[in-house]
Amino acid sequence: MIPRTDDRRFKIAPSILSADLSRLAEQVREVEAAGADRIHVDVMDGRFVPNITFGPVLVKWLRPVTTLHLEGHLMIHAPDDFLDAFAEAGIDSLIVHVEGALHLNRTIQRIKALNLRAGVAINPATPAVMLEEVLPDLDLVLAMTVNPGFGGQSFITGTLKKIQTIRQMIDRENPACELEVDGGVDAETAPKLIEAGARVFVAGSSVYGAPDGPTAGMQRLARAMGL
Ligand code: DX5
Ligand code: ZN
Repeated sequence: MIPRTDDRRFKIAPSILSADLSRLAEQVREVEAAGADRIHVDVMDGRFVPNITFGPVLVKWLRPVTTLHLEGHLMIHAPDDFLDAFAEAGIDSLIVHVEGALHLNRTIQRIKALNLRAGVAINPATPAVMLEEVLPDLDLVLAMTVNPGFGGQSFITGTLKKIQTIRQMIDRENPACELEVDGGVDAETAPKLIEAGARVFVAGSSVYGAPDGPTAGMQRLARAMGL
């Protein structure tokens, strides 16, 4: 098991998108025991991304299963319509896309008013400068390292440069803000992402798709991160 302390330098957020959903509770408990820091819930609406996944009802059932922090990655249009429902279901943080929220400032303020941690995700093709005005208000930035919509895609190497830029912006404007990365994170890409400035790592297929199981997947990732 990886020691879980608040000051651990790097954190792992397994994504249940790649889990065996027929035994979701078991799969979540397994990564919790293996040292996961939080559980990443990928919410897709079939419009913002070409896929459909989970909604607040899944969060409601997941909530009593784990004490881990639940983060909702909202890959949906008009996220404002669903913030309250996710809060009620027991989510701990909500991450909305800079490309999906028309009035991003309002959306962030609403997330905070619900007493949740507020994050903003940014797609590979969107420049880092789009985060500038909202950064002081954020608890987390989620830099996408694949185009959102599916698990198991290849890491886009070109995103490393933008992650460095976001790291600099965060250090300058809001050092308490976390920098998380999502997509193609595995033992090979994680060290490069750490070097670029990432501190929290979403991992779908490298944990839940690991041929030797999620615990072994977690351990491999942790070792690669020097945890
Ligand atoms: C992709 C999702 C990711 C996905 C990552 O749209 O946002 O969270 O689960 O999966 P892997 O780690 O397999 O790239
Ligand atoms: Zn995600």
